[in-house]
Amino acid sequence: MDKRENLPVHIGIIMDGNGRWAKKHGLPRNMGHKKGAETFEKISKYCRDIGIRWLTVYAFSTENWKRPPEEVAGLMALMRQYLKNMDTAFGEKIAVRFIGDRGPLDGDIVKLIEKAEAANIPEPKLTVQVALNYGGRDEIVHAVKKLAEDVKSGALEPEDVDEREIAKRLYSPDAPDPDLIIRPSGEERISNFLLWQCAYSELVFMDVLWPDFTPEHLEKALDEYEKRSRRFGGI
Ligand code: FPP
Repeated sequence: MDKRENLPVHIGIIMDGNGRWAKKHGLPRNMGHKKGAETFEKISKYCRDIGIRWLTVYAFSTENWKRPPEEVAGLMALMRQYLKNMDTAFGEKIAVRFIGDRGPLDGDIVKLIEKAEAANIPEPKLTVQVALNYGGRDEIVHAVKKLAEDVKSGALEPEDVDEREIAKRLYSPDAPDPDLIIRPSGEERISNFLLWQCAYSELVFMDVLWPDFTPEHLEKALDEYEKRSRRFGGI
C-alpha cells in the first residue's frame, strides 16, 4: 500500500503516444499498441498494489475508426487477445468493465466483454474500466436520449431533470468521478475523455510516450496530485 495521505480513488489515463513510439523504433504502429497494452497491464497491477480503487483507460475513441483499417483491426485483435486471457492479462483481484457504445463492435468482442464483466472476482481491489468505442459527448448523448424517453413515458417530470438524473444514465453510474487524469506523450488536451466526469479532475500531462510509461512515472503524477489543493469551487 502507498503511504501517501491523499491517494486518488479513481485515476483516468489517456494512453497516448503508441504510434510515435513505434515510429521512433522503426516498427509498425500496431507494435506500439502491443507495447502499450503491456504497459496497461503493468500499470493496472501497480495501481491495484498501491491501493487505487478505480482506473479508467482510453483504449479506443469514437473517432478512432478514422484510422487505417489495418490499425483498427490490430487494435481489435489486441482487445480480443486480452479478453480471451482475462485471468492472466488483467491480474488477480482486478474486476474489469467496459464503457462506450458496443453497437458498432464485432459480435464476438461484445460476447467476450459480457463474459469478462460477468466473471466473479472475489473481493476486487481495483476496478479497471476500459473505454472502448468511447466518446464523452457520445456518452452524454446516450444519457440524454434515455432521459428523454423517461420524460416521454412519464417516468420523469421535466422539472426533475438535474445533474443526478443525467449522471445516473451514464455508462458507469456507480464509478466515482476521476480525481486525477494523466495524459502522457506531451499532448495537453482531454480529447473527449470522460467529459462529464472530469469537471473537477486534476490533470497531469507528462512528456513520456505511453509504451515507455513506468510505475515511476505514475509515482511522479501522484507527487504532483498530492501538491494540488482541490477546492471543488469553494475556497
Ligand atoms: C493512442 O496512441 C492510443 C490508442 C488509440 C490505442 C490505445 C490502446 C492500447 C494501449 C491497447 C489497450 C489494450 C487493452 C487490452 C486495454 P496513438 O496511436 O494516437 O499514438 P500517436 O499519437 O503517437 O500516433
